[in-house]
Amino acid sequence: MIKVVFLGLGPNNEPMFQKDLLNGHKILVTGGGTGLGRSMAQRFSELGAEVVICGRREDVLSQAAVEIQKVTGQKVTFVSCDVRDPEANEKMLDQIWTEAPLTGLVNNAAGNFISRTEDLSPRAIDSVLNIVLHGSAYVTVSCGRRWLKQGRRASVLSIVTTYAETGSAFVVPSAMAKAGVTAMTKSLAVEWGGRGIRLNAIAPGPFPTPGAWERLVPNEKVGKALVNRIPLKRVGEHIELANLASFLMSDFSGYINGDVITIDGGECLKGAGQFSFLGDFMSEADWAAMRPPNKSKT
Ligand code: HXC
Ligand code: NAP
Repeated sequence: MIKVVFLGLGPNNEPMFQKDLLNGHKILVTGGGTGLGRSMAQRFSELGAEVVICGRREDVLSQAAVEIQKVTGQKVTFVSCDVRDPEANEKMLDQIWTEAPLTGLVNNAAGNFISRTEDLSPRAIDSVLNIVLHGSAYVTVSCGRRWLKQGRRASVLSIVTTYAETGSAFVVPSAMAKAGVTAMTKSLAVEWGGRGIRLNAIAPGPFPTPGAWERLVPNEKVGKALVNRIPLKRVGEHIELANLASFLMSDFSGYINGDVITIDGGECLKGAGQFSFLGDFMSEADWAAMRPPNKSKT
């Protein structure tokens, strides 16, 4: 039987983390009002962190903050902020720092959609690059400057994608932007690591969210094809990514710096292996025909 870790519990219902793993942490999750950002925010909060979420839509943020706080009992606040706007970011961080400095930042806010690249207007290209590449860089540098000035230890986690490394047709601005965020992560891990700031990234495979699915999965056929590519034959559960993020934000991952951790059920490796697709095409008879004659099946 395959045992899978769901709801943060192990195969025998044991908790994955001690309940106070993130006590004393204060973490900003950009785009924390929806999807994976919200799931991470809730998990950090369950594990004792004070959480701040930001995004453009105040009503979405306000509802998420109230709902998370209701479940976890921890302090959750929100700031309506467009990460593309450096002045708005500074204002948000000033407001956050007035109470207490952040100990961590999760660059999760993103924009993306599928399109043939030749159909993209300059504004369409910028719309993705500005949120993902520029937004992540602005917020990271603004936080970093504060941490460095105050001599504080901190951790930055960026949510990228597996195709940041390989590239991907039909989501080219996103692939370009996520590759840039990966480069920022690795560069600053070296530049700032010695001054107490760790930077890492998570590269998720498909984790269904309304935001991603309405822009990237046009119909059920595509949805099925997406799952079929994954060796584990299933999409990711939010709690699986949220637990990985919690570990990377915690002090227990203190020696991990500048890394990109893939969580995709093996999807990107399957795409890379030259013969990996054979599992989808070969029947028992096909395999039997490939064995040398007179060799019994083992
Ligand atoms: C072609 C498009 C388009 C589309 C928008 N544009 N959608 N072009 N195909 N599907 C063009 C518009 O026509 C316009 O160009 C330009 O992009 C800007 O559009 P706006 O709507 O004005 O932009 P804005 O309001 O800034 O919104 C940004 C956005 C939007 C990225 C376009 O979708 C958004 O707000 N997304 C946020 C949430 C999100 O994308 N979540 C998914 C993340 S999932 P013109 O020239 O006409 O003015 C993810 C997962 C990856 O990253 C991996 C999954 C497995
Ligand atoms: P989502 O729910 O659409 O999340 C995107 C969030 O970013 C939204 O809350 C959105 O809120 C916010 N945002 C967008 N533009 C912003 C801006 N300019 N300023 C501030 N906030 C902004 O999608 P998701 O699937 O959870 O994606 C979360 C992250 O995971 C993204 O980085 C995505 O690339 C990554 N990822 C997702 C998958 C997946 O399968 N879901 C796979 C790989 C990587 P507002 O619209 O209110 O601003």
